[in-house]
Amino acid sequence: MDEVQVLLKELTQAGGVPGHEDDVRRLLQGHLRQLGEVGHDKLGSVICTKQGESAEPRVMLAAHMDEIGFMVSHITKDGFVRFATLGGWWDHVLLGQRVVIKTKKGDVPGTIGAKPPHLLSDEERSKMVANKDMYMDIGATSREEVEEAGVRVADPIVPVGEFTVLAGGRSYLSKAFDDRAGCAVMLTAMRRMSSIAHPNTLLAVATVQEEVGLRGARTSVQTVNPDVAIILEATGVGDVPGVGEEGQALRLGRGPVITFYRQDMIPNLPLRDLLRDTAEKHDIPVQIRADRIRGGTDGAAIHLHGSGVPTVVLSLPVRYVHSHSSIMHRADFDAAVDLLTGVLQQLDRKTVSGLTEW
Ligand code: CO
Repeated sequence: MDEVQVLLKELTQAGGVPGHEDDVRRLLQGHLRQLGEVGHDKLGSVICTKQGESAEPRVMLAAHMDEIGFMVSHITKDGFVRFATLGGWWDHVLLGQRVVIKTKKGDVPGTIGAKPPHLLSDEERSKMVANKDMYMDIGATSREEVEEAGVRVADPIVPVGEFTVLAGGRSYLSKAFDDRAGCAVMLTAMRRMSSIAHPNTLLAVATVQEEVGLRGARTSVQTVNPDVAIILEATGVGDVPGVGEEGQALRLGRGPVITFYRQDMIPNLPLRDLLRDTAEKHDIPVQIRADRIRGGTDGAAIHLHGSGVPTVVLSLPVRYVHSHSSIMHRADFDAAVDLLTGVLQQLDRKTVSGLTEW
């Protein structure tokens, strides 16, 4: 495995459901300390400051470190663990998946189960099982056994999805590419910027609690008070069988996605164009998204800070996002890092103040 694969493996495999980001935060703090001065906001977002040739403009990079997951809501007397979801799950992708319950006594592995098919009526069998009818099975037969293992109500539960390099070596399978892939783009670009002059101060922020409502974005942007912001995300694509032409428009391996429109955020247009033009100039492939995207982005909170922050979202296309088994492509990762480092070198005082001349 090369450096990027090692980083992606390490970041995706760390636990960090919303509000319980400790494991992944520790990792990111360790990496960011090599690159600048590291602080945090009071919700737990990590902020790394690296001053270049000028204190201003302040350029915020943001990637969320939390992943979707679960929390123990109840332990039944027969020894099954009921759960609440943290973030947006599609119930179809849950059954039969492995999880780890993070307890004070250590990790407790289990799987997600539901009433078995041979005991369902024909009507029940044709319906999707709702997550409220599922449970986690840790192989116990009584509540006492579950408690003995260390499991308590409100313990966080992390999906299990091993990082695997797929056939051909260019695409990767794992849980949590949303948004550890964005964290890895941010880290890799920051590493590259340590040997490149930049006319600004970079503030790389790993935010918390994005998946439950952009909460770390809201608090970290107030701490950072940026002049401009680039959000690094993972975005779901539909380049798979059974999807029509429009749904297939964004494809794995065709470059990172610049969001031109979302329901919750319209990017700063000159900044958006700076990304597209920089990509064109350096022959970096990019894709453009302008459709009705469900879900949120930290950008939605960040661009509304103060009197407004010029903001753009740059995402890696990911298949089966928000599942235990997502797929991303290395070409998209490399192109995102190239584009980001190209843009960061251009964000000087004049360029950034030009973004908001009306
Ligand atoms: Co995300």
